Amino acid sequence: MSVIQLENVSRAFTVTSRTGLRRTKREVRAVDNLSFTVGRGEVVGYIGPNGAGKSTTIKMLTGILVPSGGSIRVAGVDPSRNRMKLAKRIGVVFGQRTTLWWDLPLKDSFAVLQKMYGVSRARHAENLATFVELLDLGDLLDVPVRQLSLGQRMRGDIAAALLHDPEIVYLDEPTIGLDIISKARLREFLAQVNKDRQTTIILTTHDLDDIEALCSRVMVIDHGHKVYDGTLTGLRSSQSAPRTLVVDLAASLPPITIDGATVTKVDGPRQYLTFPTTTSAAPLVAQIAATYPLQDLTIAEPTIESVIARIYANPAPVTD
Ligand SMILES: Nc1ncnc2c1ncn2[C@@H]1O[C@H](COP(=O)(O)OP(=O)(O)OP(=O)(O)O)[C@@H](O)[C@H]1O
Ligand SMILES: [Mg+2]
Repeated sequence: MSVIQLENVSRAFTVTSRTGLRRTKREVRAVDNLSFTVGRGEVVGYIGPNGAGKSTTIKMLTGILVPSGGSIRVAGVDPSRNRMKLAKRIGVVFGQRTTLWWDLPLKDSFAVLQKMYGVSRARHAENLATFVELLDLGDLLDVPVRQLSLGQRMRGDIAAALLHDPEIVYLDEPTIGLDIISKARLREFLAQVNKDRQTTIILTTHDLDDIEALCSRVMVIDHGHKVYDGTLTGLRSSQSAPRTLVVDLAASLPPITIDGATVTKVDGPRQYLTFPTTTSAAPLVAQIAATYPLQDLTIAEPTIESVIARIYANPAPVTD
């Protein structure tokens, strides 16, 4: 069952730029003919380079922005027409800015949200206890939001977005600026929430470790177009980035020659060979072992960063 549906959605902005005395108007198509559906309980990574249209999509999904064309259904309703109704069913975190009240202690912000969303006292207390424990918020509840560190505030923001039991949560760069420990903790928390509550999560991030840790599905957007939609494994193989064979020989030798792989670097007795993803490594290894004094060997898969860099550089059309 799909909880989010986009059909041929576009959003254009008119951007005015000024050179000297001349003003020119230009239309930017931030999102261009975008279609996708998301099922209940899915955790989808929504990635793309700066200016690709990610935040614009999220804003349309919350109803803050009205599409210039196409149709959107979230939890069965049109977000821009039923923004208030939808607000109870979704949670949003924009990592770049807080939704909490700057001067209020965290717990007072939470209390305001309880009233705003009409959450029962019992349910609020129950959720608060869970989030305080999982996000380690105990010492922070009495601290005004302005005094919290970035990572502390983000934990507060995430709790705030989830206190009313939303079915769908949009997270726009929730780990931006956080240290490794805080990132790991946040990922664990989100995985737990998804598992316990079947919350649907759309996660926008520039940190591909977030995607690896959380998302069974990833969508790549570029210039407002969807350029990939599938699994992370599929993303890796779709770009057929070469794999690397790291060969340790018994001695320093000139670059070795074998069929089907090319030496790209020699570092003493260690040589690096690249070979296509489509080729099996086994015959290469057999060839090297038969011809050279092979001592050890590892195969390095292309990093997800290198795969995505290739997609951004050379997007392939998506077939739905
Ligand atoms: N309110 C606006 N007025 C004019 N142009 C806008 C507005 N909001 C977004 N844009 C333009 O739309 C395009 C997409 O912006 P968007 O913020 O959706 O990108 P993004 O994928 O979230 O990028 P980032 O990774 O930098 O956050 C950009 O070219 C941006 O300049
Ligand atoms: Mg953005």
